[in-house]
Amino acid sequence: MGLPALDEFPVALWARLTARRWRRDGAALLGYTDARGYPPLREAIARYAVTARGVRCTPDQVVVVNGAQHGVDLLARVLLDPGDAAWVEDPGWWPVRAAVRAVGARPVRVPVDAGGLVVAEGERRAPDARLAFVTPSYQAPLGAVLSLERRLALLAWAGRAGAWVLEDDYNGEYRYDAPPLPAVQGLDRAVHGDAGRVVYVGSLSKTLAPGLRLGYLIVPPALVEPLRQARGASDLHTAVPEQAVLADFLAEGHFARHVRRTRALYRRRQACLLALAPRLTHGLLELRPTGAGMQVLGLLPDGVDAAAVARAAAARGVVVTPLAAAAPGAAPHEATGGRGGLLLGFAAFGPEATRAALETLGRVLREAAAALPPARRR
Ligand SMILES: Cc1ncc(COP(=O)(O)O)c(C=O)c1O
Repeated sequence: MGLPALDEFPVALWARLTARRWRRDGAALLGYTDARGYPPLREAIARYAVTARGVRCTPDQVVVVNGAQHGVDLLARVLLDPGDAAWVEDPGWWPVRAAVRAVGARPVRVPVDAGGLVVAEGERRAPDARLAFVTPSYQAPLGAVLSLERRLALLAWAGRAGAWVLEDDYNGEYRYDAPPLPAVQGLDRAVHGDAGRVVYVGSLSKTLAPGLRLGYLIVPPALVEPLRQARGASDLHTAVPEQAVLADFLAEGHFARHVRRTRALYRRRQACLLALAPRLTHGLLELRPTGAGMQVLGLLPDGVDAAAVARAAAARGVVVTPLAAAAPGAAPHEATGGRGGLLLGFAAFGPEATRAALETLGRVLREAAAALPPARRR
């Protein structure tokens, strides 16, 4: 699964920072705060996003949310009216389509290829869309990085159409084959200045832990007030004590260190998976590593059903995600040539667990391949 290594989370340090905050601030952590979030956390997030992700912003533009999914839901409500079209990646992250539909707007599927979202196709299908959702650092779930040419084309279209671009910087920190690319948001500020069209969506779910439910939006100046009102009207704000601890964790450099350490660890773990998989899965899984993220896509032989393989593996204690489950309803696409695919998570598992899981998966794949009609066997 695309989970980070939760056993690498610095629990003792987090507990120390939490105790220190309560000792120092006590009841001062128990009142209301700005709907955009606890001010010291917004400052720490802005500093991090500027230095580490190439975002251009002030703390004023930061809105703390309970994870990316919450942020997307909030943005759909603020930016879309019933009947509006919104580009969504195909295949892509299903909560986006759900958020678009929930406000009565219309998700328009735009295909992705090795260069990420096919912007020209989006323009052809819905030139007047109000919004485009994109995962430029790591296309979810296939892993492509949005090319510079497409980034510029997307911004040019957004400027012409007066549309918003939702940049979900999913896995932005976890690139192994090259330095991480800076965010599209920074490029947008260079192109459009204060009239920026990009809303940056950040999450701590992959860099720290999904159970914390902490994320942030960095919005253009024109959207600060609408977002503050919408955030206040929904659940007012995220709990202050957790925000205060995260502010210290960021400001004191622990976050940057944790990301550096886990990036090196995940690079090794991916290399281990890639080295072991061909032999242990008997050549029945064609891996498509992307040099980024926490999962590798493996394509199955023609005719082997990904859902059935995943069920059989789960029955033996190994969890793999069929591509179709990660992106339900996606049309057969260029990336797989219509073949079934499995997403294999590697970040959360050391070498022994990876080897054992691949041995089990290899047995399941052999059985599935043997059950194919003779003409389809390889
Ligand atoms: C594309 C994408 N963006 C963001 C996230 C993080 O979501 P959240 O912050 O709501 O946990 C995920 C989680 O799997 C994801 O798949």
